[in-house]
Formats: sequence, structure tokens, C-alpha cells
Amino acid sequence: NNVKGYRAWLQYSKIEDKRMDEEYRSWFSAIGVAGDTSITNSAIKELSDGIESMLDVAPTVNVDSLQTASIILGTYQDIWIEDYGMSPELFGDLNNEGYVLKTTPNDNGEKKILLIGKTDKGILYATYHLLRLIQSRKPIHSLDIVDAPKNQFRMMNQWDNIDGTIERGYSGKSIFYYENDFSEDLERIKDYARLLSSTGLNAISINNVNVWDVETNLISKQYLPKVERVANIFRAYGITLFLSINYASPIALGNLDTADPLDEKVRAWWKKKVEEIYQYIPDFGGFIVKADSENRPGPFSYDRDHADGANVLAEALKPFNGILIWRCFVYNNLQDWRDRSTDRARAAYDNFKPIDGQFLDNVILQIKNGPMDFQVREPVSPLLGALKKTNQLLELQVAQEYTGQQKDVCYLIPQWKEILDFDTYAKGEGTKIKNIAGGTTYNNSNSGIAAVSNIGNDINWTGNTLAQANLYGFGRLTWNPDLTTEEITRDWIHLTFGHDPLVVENIEYILLNSWKTYENYTVPLGIGWMVNPGHHYGPNIDGYEYSAWGTYHFADRDGIGVDRTVETGTGYTSQYFPPNVEWYNSLDSCPDELLLFFHHVPYTHVLKSGETVIQHIYNTHFKGVEEVEDFIYKWDKLVGSIDNRIFENVKERLYLQLKNATDWRDKINTYFYRKSGISDNKNRTIY
Ligand code: GCU
Repeated sequence: NNVKGYRAWLQYSKIEDKRMDEEYRSWFSAIGVAGDTSITNSAIKELSDGIESMLDVAPTVNVDSLQTASIILGTYQDIWIEDYGMSPELFGDLNNEGYVLKTTPNDNGEKKILLIGKTDKGILYATYHLLRLIQSRKPIHSLDIVDAPKNQFRMMNQWDNIDGTIERGYSGKSIFYYENDFSEDLERIKDYARLLSSTGLNAISINNVNVWDVETNLISKQYLPKVERVANIFRAYGITLFLSINYASPIALGNLDTADPLDEKVRAWWKKKVEEIYQYIPDFGGFIVKADSENRPGPFSYDRDHADGANVLAEALKPFNGILIWRCFVYNNLQDWRDRSTDRARAAYDNFKPIDGQFLDNVILQIKNGPMDFQVREPVSPLLGALKKTNQLLELQVAQEYTGQQKDVCYLIPQWKEILDFDTYAKGEGTKIKNIAGGTTYNNSNSGIAAVSNIGNDINWTGNTLAQANLYGFGRLTWNPDLTTEEITRDWIHLTFGHDPLVVENIEYILLNSWKTYENYTVPLGIGWMVNPGHHYGPNIDGYEYSAWGTYHFADRDGIGVDRTVETGTGYTSQYFPPNVEWYNSLDSCPDELLLFFHHVPYTHVLKSGETVIQHIYNTHFKGVEEVEDFIYKWDKLVGSIDNRIFENVKERLYLQLKNATDWRDKINTYFYRKSGISDNKNRTIY
């Protein structure tokens, strides 16, 4: 497909610079490859297509005859690497997905570029790396790169339903399903696999965590052959397939009268079911489960806890090296707003910390980054790091459910970097979230990072083309959380839009400022929510204030915020390790941006910034709208310098964003002016 938006960061556009074109071309007369697996073949295909598209040459591909080739692909066991001055020990230390990308002379002094994987997966990642270098116009004549992923599971969660809709999807319908069956457009799925694996992702679950009636059948004969077909596509790109399952499957599919995890019939049923699945997909990843959460069935119905619930499934998966991912998004969604003692933020920790250590070692608990639900700003979940004897997976949301729904630009890499770099102090200073996810803190056998996908069948995948940057950046960060926001952003812009300095500068500006801007015109100081119930777009200050969902701001005429302190509040702050407990618990040290998440304060409370809370609300909301106007100004400058379709797509959405931002500004400012009776000290219009 030649639409630029569709090709995303795999544009492989023609290299215009003559000198560079020649320099690159000199390398690509012949590619030699050792080995013949589906993954190696994907690597060769990607490399040949990419090179042909960028350099207008079609290099020959020689299988197993490496002498004449200048580009050589293989695993360290299939290539005689000593001939190229490399020692096999180098690979001993690398994990299975690692690789070496090296320019080196062979014994005869002829220069070669080697793409050597520890396994074939490494070959594929090395290939994408080389292509990225060329796309970014970087020199390749003296490469010396050794790289391997820092996270074991680097996973995408699709929230796709089999009727073709996507829960929290903002870019069309599902690419996987169409009208209660699998889509026949396998090419599209393959292109998605290419996009994911080019960023380093290696796992995917292909259906919504809310598993409704029809989807329950995905693990039955009716659908398994088609699940297998999809698994085959992803396998060739190093991506393992998982399914979300309905905890009540033994009842729904097995005609049992219970799904009690300690019931022998249930146990036997899961064992058989898992055996059946592995007959179709021998390297099936495993299950992801949302249980006892937002009205989904689970072990609570049988008076069992989450460990009982998860272990029965893990036990069935174990003989096949399957993994059971159990989500910790468990809270009371039938709360009475009059009840001031229950705090939704406490729920994940309260539910799971007491059963730390009771899960089998092929269970991973998947924990959302914050204690609430993917808000524009919330603290890091205190459960991350608190589980010392249980595998854990950090869950992020690439889909912009609460961050503009891919109408508004909201580049989330800066947010994720803050999360990954957050110091939990779980094992003393320096116990960062990225170390916990990486599995090094507690030597976890299974760990990593997962996220809710933001793609659909829109031609540009993500609705707003700029939202592609979130998908791209997510993958890169899971591979290496130490990459800087700037590196990732630059790479994405270069790969997607090329190198025109104004294009790079303006897009970078918009992306890097967009999260803060979104925060400015929406919810202040970490309070969260204030969105329209249900669909979650646009302002509705009291939308959830008197509801059962446990998401309150407690604004009255005197003040605003949720008291979560130990002394006078819900005690949530005590779930953190010291010194974070004190840091959040004390009004003096609590950072401004999370103040209202942790404290209830008067509107006249003076922030560290020197402004009062109410003046901060007014200032940020006026500023947020001005910033969107500035984005429009900067975007308009790019007309003619980028693909017109992408230009128009983003432009249209920036105007929607402006409308949204204005709506937020006026409603928030007016609401708090009416509540507090305090005027804006700059006398701007408040209604
Ligand atoms: C959010 C989202 C739901 C989703 C849930 C989950 O609450 O709004 O649509 O099902 O998260 O993560 O399970």
C-alpha cells in the first residue's frame, strides 16, 4: 500500500542525496543468508524490499553462500563468526533476542556488514536496526553495535471485539475481525506485525480483555483454525500470540455447573482445553485474564482468591511453557459515593499485596501504571515493586482513552519515561519501575511491559497520524527504557517525515509539548476524571462525582482534592515505600502536579510555583488553549513540505482539539469560579 500514512515509520523513501545513495548502494549488491526459518525469511524480505525502495537496487540473495555477499545474516551458530574476528563468548551473554550489527573485514580483508542474531529473532531485529540507520541517513561503514532487549515481554493488548468494534478504539474498526468472524485481510495483519516487530515488540493478545459471549468461543474449534492463521503471521515476525479468555469458560463452553478454580472438573477441563489449543498453535503464548473486575466473572464468586483463580490456568499452561497474565485492575465499581472510607486508588494493592508469593512462576500480574485508570496524570501504582515474590508486567495505554482519543495530540512518551524512571525505593534508592519491569529487581522469571493498542483499520492506523508516534515510541521503550524521549521522537520524525529541518523542528515541538498542553486544558494538579461518563471525551466536572465508580474530586465552595493521607484521609499514601510515603503524605513535599490526588486543599492554597490553586487552574486553562493555537500555527507552516493527506488529517484534528480545549477551559474555569467565588487576577473572560 502506497499511502504514506499507511506506511507509518516504514516509509523506505528514496534516498535523494546522490553521494549517500551511492555510499549505501555500494553495500547492497548481494545479501548472504545462513538458515531458513520463517523469521529469517521475514528479515530477508524486509531488507530486500526496503533496499529496493530506498536505493532502487534489487540485491541478489544467496542462501548459504556467504563468500560473495557484502551483507551477511545468520545466527551466531550458523555463521563462522571467528572468521570475522568475533568470539562466540560475546553471544553467551546476550539474551535470545539479542544481536550484533557490525561492519568488519573477513580474513581476506573484504568489508562485510554482519547481522548476527543469537537466534533468528535477533537477525530480524538487526535487520530493522540497519534499515532504520539507512532511513535516518546514518553511516554504516563502521558499525559496531551489540544490542538486546531489556524487557522479556514486550506486549501489545488489542481490545478488539469479534463484531469488529474496538473497546476504546479511536481509529476505525478492528483489523482482526469483521462481523463476528476473522477478517480475511491477512495482508493488513502482516503489515501490523511488521510495524510492531520493527519497534521491538514480541507479544500480542488479539482480543478484548472484556471477553463477551461470542469471543468466549475463540478457544473453541469454531475459531481456533483462524486463530492459528493469525498466530502464523505474527510468528514470522517474532511475535507470540495470546488470547484473552472468559473466566467462566468452563460453564459457557464446557457445560459445567461451576468455574470454581479448586473444583477437579474445572481443573481437568482447563487442562484439556489448553492441550487442544496447543495442537493448533504449538508456541501459543498463553492467556490474559480480567477477572472479578468491572463485572467480569472470576474466582470471588466461589470464595477463592486471585491466586487460586490464576493458578488453575497457569498449571494447565505450564507443560507447554505457556504464560498466564492476570490483570490487577480490580476494584469496587459499585461504590456508594456517600461512603468516604473506600478509596478506589487503594484497590490493586489491597487485593494483591496480601497474596504475594502465592502465584505459580508462570503467572504474571499485569499492573496498570497508575492506581486509577490511565489518567493524564496520576502517581505510579504502589503495587509495582511491592510484589517481591510474584512476576509483574507494567500496563500502559497507547490508546488515548483519557488523553484526547486520537483527536487531540497527546504524545505519551514523556509520561511513560517519567513512570519508568520513577524510584519506588522498593529495594532502597534506585529501584526504578524500569528495573522492576525488566525483572532485575527481584530476579523475576517472567516480566516486561504491555500496553493497550491504539490502532484500527483507518488507512493511517491511528486516526490522528501523529498518534503513530505513541505506538512507535512504546515499542522502542519496551526494548530499551533508557532511550531518551528526544532520541525516540527524532527517530520517529525522521523515519516518517524525512529530514526537512522545519518539518522536524515543528513536529518535534508539537509532540514534546503536547502532553503538558493536554494536562493544562483538562484536569488540574493530578485530580483526574472530570470527563464525560461512558465515552470519556470532553469535560464534565461532576460527571463521575456522584457515581459508583469511585472517582471523585470532592470540590466544594472552600476547596478541592482527595485526602489520601494517613492521618486524616484514606491512608493510600502508606502503600508507598519510604521516603515516598512521607513525600506524598506531607502537603509540604507533595509535588504540585499531584497535589489534588493526595490532598484536599483550599482554593487559596499556595503551590510551590507561587500561585494559588485557583489561579493555577485559570492560568493553565487559558494557557492550554493558547498552546493549541500555537500548534495549529506551527502545523500550518508545514503545508507543502509533507504529504498532503497527512497534513490535512492532522490539521482537521488540531481544529477539533482547539474546540475541545476551549470547551474544557470554559467549563473548568467557570465551574471553579462559581464554586469558589474567587476572580481571575488577570481579569480574563470567565462565564
Ligand atoms: C478502563 C476502560 C474500560 C476497560 C478497563 C480495563 O476502565 O474504560 O473500557 O475495560 O479500563 O482496563 O479493563
